[in-house]
Amino acid sequence: MLNSKHHVIFTITAFLLTSLALVACSTAQASEEEIEALWGTSAHADSESRSFTRWDDEEPPEIPERCAKCHSTHGYRDFLGLDGATPGQVDQPAQVGTTIECEACHNEVAGTKSSAIMPSGINLTGLTQEANCMECHQGRASGVQVSEAIAGLPADKVDAELSPPNIHNNPAGPTQFGTEAHGGFEYEGREYLGRYMHVIQFETCQECHDAHALQIKVEQCSACHKGANSVQALANIRTSNIDYDGDGDITEGMAGEVETMQDRLLLAMGAYAARTEGVDDIEYDGGFVDASGEPYTTWTPRLLKAAHNYRIAALDPGSYAHNGQYIIQLHYDSLADLEANIFGMIRPE
Ligand code: HEC
Ligand code: HEC
Ligand code: HEC
Ligand code: HEC
Ligand code: HEC
Repeated sequence: MLNSKHHVIFTITAFLLTSLALVACSTAQASEEEIEALWGTSAHADSESRSFTRWDDEEPPEIPERCAKCHSTHGYRDFLGLDGATPGQVDQPAQVGTTIECEACHNEVAGTKSSAIMPSGINLTGLTQEANCMECHQGRASGVQVSEAIAGLPADKVDAELSPPNIHNNPAGPTQFGTEAHGGFEYEGREYLGRYMHVIQFETCQECHDAHALQIKVEQCSACHKGANSVQALANIRTSNIDYDGDGDITEGMAGEVETMQDRLLLAMGAYAARTEGVDDIEYDGGFVDASGEPYTTWTPRLLKAAHNYRIAALDPGSYAHNGQYIIQLHYDSLADLEANIFGMIRPE
């Protein structure tokens, strides 16, 4: 199986040399007006979004310190220390009425920023411009908060005090860095993959995503991934013959492998609930709910670990591209911990 993977990679590598030249030619410098127009189409410029209007009707209408870094240009500039006060924290509530504007990313601090602290407490260093993306697209909880919540508790006993730490938003940043950021709940005695390096020139957030439009630069992906010329078609990308999810299908994309692991994990959580005393049936509907659709309450430590790993991928439609193998490792280990049938599945090395 490994041989066939290497074969595929080899073919891609041969192709890579020719296509990199093509990619370089197609990256013409955009004018400032073009950049402004691209940004104008993006979620960062969407002044109607809940992300930017949520605080408009508060009294007074301002964004609290704990939310302002990611939800306002003023808040992010304050976080960077451009307000003259301490860098690395927001010192005062931010005015409402901004989105993520040019001045958030283009200033003397953001331009040379090379590190970012993750919700796990780990400081990632040696970053380029993605350091800014990583500050806001990091989620708000990691595997470390799960460990803290369950410390010393028996694995299978319901605890009314337990609830999953709130990841809040798509944690694409920590996922891309794998175990270097400890975004997922990582089981003891298991090794996990680190940063997904993908391929030179397409390693960082701004290399795959246009930094202004935020869309994936699909016309560049298809230079190496045949047929990947629309956002939908990206989900068909795969580069190995390893059948991670054990469903016998090695033509589906990496996205399909992740999706099956997600489905299997949710089923395994349901089976665990059915056989464990005091644990209600569990479903996922944007958040975890019981059979009557009410927010889920009967958590055990074992269920909480699995739920955290499930949610990391559920919140991230790009997890297969950010670090598909790390995501599959987390799911595999959660399935094993729930004593689900993992026969035929292959844990990425
Ligand atoms: C670490 C950065 C970060 C922090 C801190 C943060 N958010 Fe967010 N939030 C985001 C991002 C990014 C999104 C966009 C959705 C996504 O990426 O998944 C978002 C989405 C939202 C949305 C729109 C989606 C929805 O659920 O309606 C609201 C409202 C929101 N956040 C409220 C808050 C509040 C309230 C706080 C403070 C208690 C907060 N956020 C703190 C990053 C953050
Ligand atoms: C979320 C962060 C972010 C925001 C907001 C942002 N930029 Fe950028 N900008 C970047 C990054 C990152 C690059 C480097 C792009 C790359 O390496 O592909 C960049 C590059 C540029 C460049 C250099 C030319 C180029 O294509 O590389 C210009 C000019 C520019 N931005 C102008 C703007 C203007 C004007 C706005 C507001 C309308 C804006 N930017 C908003 C992050 C941002
Ligand atoms: C200061 C915080 C901040 C920074 C820096 C930032 N973002 Fe965002 N980003 C947000 C928020 C908030 C949203 C949600 C906006 C909305 O709801 O319209 C968002 C939305 C997005 C989305 C769309 C997500 C969706 O659910 O539709 C993408 C993709 C994205 N950002 C990528 C990036 C990239 C790439 C960078 C770095 C070049 C970056 N962001 C830098 C805060 C930030
Ligand atoms: C290897 C290429 C690649 C890299 C590197 C990458 N992404 Fe993505 N990202 C994707 C793909 C593919 C998707 C899924 C696009 C889709 O389905 O709309 C995605 C989706 C996203 C989304 C959700 C967009 C939405 O519409 O909901 C966010 C947010 C995001 N990425 C942020 C980031 C951030 C932040 C980084 C850097 C830490 C990053 N990405 C690095 C390829 C990449
Ligand atoms: C220069 C050639 C090249 C370009 C351009 C390229 N890729 Fe890749 N991609 C590769 C190679 C090589 C691999 C295998 C790397 C590995 O996982 O070891 C890969 C792997 C992937 C995977 C994981 C597949 C799997 O089976 O694990 C995804 C998803 C992906 N690329 C998405 C993208 C997206 C999205 C873009 C455009 C933003 C892109 N790629 C651009 C060469 C490229």
